[in-house]
Amino acid sequence: MGRENFGSKLGAILAAAGSAVGLGNIWRFPIETGQNGGAAFIIIYVCCIIVFGLPIMTSEFLIGRYTHANTAGAFRIVSNGSIWKWVGRLGVFTGWFILCYYVVVGAWTLHYTYLSVTNAFNEVPAKQYENIFGDFVSNPWIPTLWLFLFIGVIHFVITRGVQSGIEKSAKLMMPTLFIITLFLAVCSISLPGASKGLEFLLKPDWSKVDSTTVLEAMGQAFYSLSLAMGCLCTYASYFDKKTPLAKSAVNVSMIDTLIAIMAGFIIFPSVFNIGMDPNDVGVGAGLTFVSLPNVFQQALGDGSILAVIFSTAFYFLLFVAALTSAISLHEVATAYVTEEFNMSRKKGATLVTSTILVLGTLCSLSFGPLSHATLFDRNIFEMFDDLSGRFLLPIGGMLISIFAGWVLDRKLYRDEISNGGDLKTPYFKMLIFSLRYITPIAIGLVFLDQMGAFNFLK
Ligand code: TRP
Repeated sequence: MGRENFGSKLGAILAAAGSAVGLGNIWRFPIETGQNGGAAFIIIYVCCIIVFGLPIMTSEFLIGRYTHANTAGAFRIVSNGSIWKWVGRLGVFTGWFILCYYVVVGAWTLHYTYLSVTNAFNEVPAKQYENIFGDFVSNPWIPTLWLFLFIGVIHFVITRGVQSGIEKSAKLMMPTLFIITLFLAVCSISLPGASKGLEFLLKPDWSKVDSTTVLEAMGQAFYSLSLAMGCLCTYASYFDKKTPLAKSAVNVSMIDTLIAIMAGFIIFPSVFNIGMDPNDVGVGAGLTFVSLPNVFQQALGDGSILAVIFSTAFYFLLFVAALTSAISLHEVATAYVTEEFNMSRKKGATLVTSTILVLGTLCSLSFGPLSHATLFDRNIFEMFDDLSGRFLLPIGGMLISIFAGWVLDRKLYRDEISNGGDLKTPYFKMLIFSLRYITPIAIGLVFLDQMGAFNFLK
């Protein structure tokens, strides 16, 4: 059975960047930056990427490309069947898990795109936005319908295969995403009072930086780069032998960071334009679906054509960003079931899609009819989110770095990363040093922080 590869280097990088650029870039990064000292946070974030993001990403690329297998198969091969093979399986499981709640938010972006196009935010009083969102997510039918549509699009792309599905869609969607981001950022920056927003985002304020800021930057870098669960490993299994691994990792990280910073250029100038306190805008869903629709209406003229265009473009941007990430998560599971259980791509994809239809619907309904189903005060959606973000990702990341640094054959690593001696790798020693010592310790600290171990520092 022939295994497909990406058709071009550009396609490979755009696909990997599509995985990385997602909701995390738009609804978390700008706010974290603004609240943690602006440029000071960005500098720390970039350091995190260099010191431990790139080594892990390069290792994932390497394991995927070397084995040309799905993540579970890849780890079985490189671990020679030892206990380390479980790292791959854990990755597949984590990705599957993240996908179940990620698609729910993807569905919300579709609904908000629809509301924006139809000018439904015209003359809505500021206080009303919370109810609009609350009524929507608690409705038993509407979010579910959008969810099915969103999952349907993912399924369509995945069943078309690696080149004509994933690669082609990335080549279409990533430039679109970039153009929309640029358009929105330019619009927002040209609003009166925008400079205050830029100052908030960019002026380095080191007084706001403490040890927990660093941990936050690390956690964000991790999630944003799609590390630790095999997304990038799976995509890299479709890289050809000539793809430069370290350079691709640098390119993907740069695209990801650029889009995240530009998302800040979209959000803060508008927020300051309407005189809102940036500390009141909230994070995540609250920011995206409650504060921002109001901000956009007020900044661009309530119900005006400009507001309609801006708001539509913004939610469509979120949709595209979520979609490319969701596709990469789906592919992790699809590659796993097709290769490990010898199924056709169509059958494997259908199996994965069915599971996320069921579990995704449960997550989606957990804001409405299933809201009473809670564990430790968290509804089903929040459990999926918490369990993957707080436990599975850090554990997976730590295991991958320990495996790549301590267990994986050094000569193999060097051969692969230099493409059999074709490329110079002056960074090799640093990379291994980071994988062995810095990364596992850093992730351990993030993990402890998320468990609340450092609350006394705050
Ligand atoms: N990186 C994506 C974002 O920024 C989300 C994502 C996709 C992800 N695949 C992942 C996060 C794998 C962690 C692991 O939204």
